[in-house]
Amino acid sequence: LEARLTIDPAFRVAPVRRRTFGTFVEHLGRCVYTGIYEPGHPTADEDGLRTDVLALTRELGVTTVRYPGGNFVSGHRWEDAVGPVERRPARLDLAWHSTEPNRVGVDEFMRWCRKAGLEPMMAVNLGTRGVGEALALLEYCNHPNGTAWSDLRVANGAKRPYDVRMWCLGNEMDGPWQIGHKNAAEYGRLAAETARAMRMYDPALELVACGSSSSSMPTFGAWEATVLEHTYDLVDYISCHAYYEEKDGDLGSFLACATDMQHFIDSVTATADAVGAKLKSRKKINLSFDEWNVWYQSRFQNAPVPADWPVAPRLLEDHYHLADAVAVGSLLITLLANSDRVTAACLAQLVNVIAPIMTEPGGPAWRQTTFHPFAQAARHATGDVLRVETDSPTYDTADYGEVPLLHATATTTGDQTVVFAVNRSVDRPLSVTVDGPVTRVVDATTLTDPDVYARNSAGTPDRVTPRPLPADGTTVTLPPVSWNVIRFA
Ligand code: AHR
Repeated sequence: LEARLTIDPAFRVAPVRRRTFGTFVEHLGRCVYTGIYEPGHPTADEDGLRTDVLALTRELGVTTVRYPGGNFVSGHRWEDAVGPVERRPARLDLAWHSTEPNRVGVDEFMRWCRKAGLEPMMAVNLGTRGVGEALALLEYCNHPNGTAWSDLRVANGAKRPYDVRMWCLGNEMDGPWQIGHKNAAEYGRLAAETARAMRMYDPALELVACGSSSSSMPTFGAWEATVLEHTYDLVDYISCHAYYEEKDGDLGSFLACATDMQHFIDSVTATADAVGAKLKSRKKINLSFDEWNVWYQSRFQNAPVPADWPVAPRLLEDHYHLADAVAVGSLLITLLANSDRVTAACLAQLVNVIAPIMTEPGGPAWRQTTFHPFAQAARHATGDVLRVETDSPTYDTADYGEVPLLHATATTTGDQTVVFAVNRSVDRPLSVTVDGPVTRVVDATTLTDPDVYARNSAGTPDRVTPRPLPADGTTVTLPPVSWNVIRFA
């Protein structure tokens, strides 16, 4: 099979947004406890933070991290998790049927962000709480000192404010599973009032209104329109969340899941622009794709709810294979290709919970297959994103009809052009020739395996890892079910 890909520096979409490479740390399962934080672990530092996880987080190239939820945030009282640890109350976490010990809170998280070199992105609770508590958290985080909340932060050891720029106004408020779930008008009003008050403190904050939890929600589209009618002048972003999984052994449809993400992005962009037109506004609302990943939700939905309210149970610990990593790569290609409107994104989540990094309590940390496409894109996507023209054979999918086998995007700094490409064929290599102002391949890697269900594990952490891909001039042959990074001179 053969395909051609044309690139041209004139086909500029937008700069690569560093925030495309965000992730997510939620108080869920073992993401925080025995994930980023495990006092007593052989690699733990003076703050109880696992330095092996910190090192892998840096290697992953993460830029921003959303915190503390997720569904968790909608029942969370942030004040419970600051101050002397021995005085912090344990609380029921209704979202995940767990006990939250509050050993980690905003101060520990900010310390972890500083050590990992990351930008924090905070979410406020608009489920059980409202404007007042959001303002208190903002003051605690961002005000230098001299007020009750800022002085409390200083007393808790953080002299300098955290200066958090990006704030999510609640989480998935369209979902009936959400604590304090609201209809679009109720949420739109609350988000507007919270945003208005937060802007009274700092007009330059970047605020995210909740969009739909997925494009299959019955209120998808209508939700975004109503929420934005209330919040258009007050927020910068509308959020998108999407999770994909292979269903009923239909690998072909699964590998084409980025088709749905593209449709999602197009629909939300059109809806936001329609609201802007109706309001006669020239402002554009961008998209924060702040939860995306492969997640085998069907397995989670059938799992028994822990009866005894455990602390940090093993929840949502998906063990990813090669095909999952290729799907993640394809989703990354889509996010990059839409960098004109998707200016922030978070892979959900970072450690243990549907995550690229796994840990064992007291044991090693290791890279899942999905670690690699993220790390390579975060490292090599620099400069501008280019629109690419592909001429590719197609295949038929049950979910999305006819889909090209080749899925690709490119970035360029002028000196260096990089193509990110997926071959969706389940059994055929695809020879791809790149046309444009490039002379030869400098370096190319492929992530593939003869077994599409091959996985990494603590014992075999490098079974699936990028390996060199031979090139001939500007032609490379992409193995079946593969994620590829091709750097050109
Ligand atoms: O990332 C796991 C969960 O998925 C989050 O808590 C929630 O926002 C979403 O439904």
